[in-house]
Amino acid sequence: MALQPKDFTEGELTADKLVAAVDPDYWEAHGFPHPLFDRLRKESPIVRVEHPDLPKFWMVSKNRDIREISTQPTVFGNAGILNLNLADASALVGVGFDIPSLLNMDPPDHQSHRVLVDHRFQMAEVMRHDDQFLAETARLLIDDFVRSGEGSGDFVAPAQELSISAIGRILGLPKEHWEEAFRFANAVAASTDPTYRLGETAAESIATAAGGLMEIFGPLVDARKTDPKDDLVSVLARAQLDDGDLRFEQVVMHAVLILLGGVETTRNVMGVGLVELIRAPGLRRRLTENLDLLPLAVEEMIRWTSPLGHMCRNVRQNVRIGDVEFQEGDVLAVMWPSASRDEDLFDSPHEFRIDRQPNPHLAFGIGEHVCLGRQLARRQIRAMFQELLPRLKECELAGPLKRARFLINGYTHIPINFDIDPHKDH
Ligand code: HEM
Repeated sequence: MALQPKDFTEGELTADKLVAAVDPDYWEAHGFPHPLFDRLRKESPIVRVEHPDLPKFWMVSKNRDIREISTQPTVFGNAGILNLNLADASALVGVGFDIPSLLNMDPPDHQSHRVLVDHRFQMAEVMRHDDQFLAETARLLIDDFVRSGEGSGDFVAPAQELSISAIGRILGLPKEHWEEAFRFANAVAASTDPTYRLGETAAESIATAAGGLMEIFGPLVDARKTDPKDDLVSVLARAQLDDGDLRFEQVVMHAVLILLGGVETTRNVMGVGLVELIRAPGLRRRLTENLDLLPLAVEEMIRWTSPLGHMCRNVRQNVRIGDVEFQEGDVLAVMWPSASRDEDLFDSPHEFRIDRQPNPHLAFGIGEHVCLGRQLARRQIRAMFQELLPRLKECELAGPLKRARFLINGYTHIPINFDIDPHKDH
């Protein structure tokens, strides 16, 4: 039975209501609970949550507090509890994934690992090559999409294929493994979602997928160590730290995190972005006629979707933020989607505006762990809409949308009907 919507505007905000903010079952039924975030930002920007199903934690909803917390990584660390929806990640232990990824490392180790990969994602020259690849790939995918479906299709398919192609190429993953790697990535990140889960339980799904990823990446890392190519697995496989080579398991772990980060988020922004443009045909037409607005529109899609629900921070010393005194050992959940609709920074935050500027959302996080792939994500979404929009004469939803049920906000099915403009089709 579908979860009933909760009323967040009246009465006491009990633990039962508060956990909707971190509950994928609730998001699947109703999306992120923005009315709850609105009220929290006004009344209790940092609130203690004690619920029998979860570790005790503080939920932080204001943009300014999340900035302050995320930019003090030695006081608020990532090592420890990483995300309240990854409780079953303990299944990773024992299949070679029991070492930290970039996400759950703290300074100074974090920086020495991050610099190994950072430049690949931030150098303008490298990004220009990516743009060419993304434009060509998006064109082929959209060609295929508009021709094969004869006026209808599920937009999730080309969105996810663009994401896996982009990240598969950067990592240096042979093409024949892309589909399988994507299936395993989903089965780790979305182990509670029956659409993506492999096996009966979340733990089984994670264990199966982790084993599969190790089988894909293990031989690749070995091969690139002796025969490097121009790809990220080669960079990692041959990386040197002050105390020697990067361990084999660590290389695999970094590569897998980049795969997960790369395939689980961007495709959902593309899907949610298209749905918003379908719901507001005037906006879609305006954007199609003014494609120079695309960078702003893409930023707004990212703010609007803010696909990652939260990440946790583990308090290392007694410290105060605002009126709240945290104790060493406390766990915080920083709510990116709430920070991205904070009325202190955004005019009409619940309005989707394709020309919003400035747009200081926190969908990519901020500080020590700010998203490694943020430029790649922006460029990918831009490439997709640059290719798709001019070809669409008409477009409508062709059936119910189905939301994802895991730590990411998005849709698993976006059935659409469309008419193609024959003059703009290739
Ligand atoms: C719209 C798309 C994306 C969104 C919204 C997003 C969101 C985020 C957020 C919020 C964080 C910070 C987590 C924290 O502070 O604890 C993060 C980190 C990260 N993201 Fe993304 N991400 C996106 C795309 C990508 C892509 C395409 C990649 C592929 C390279 C990627 C790889 C990573 C990695 C490796 C980290 C960890 C960085 C670190 O710990 O130093 N992400 N992402």
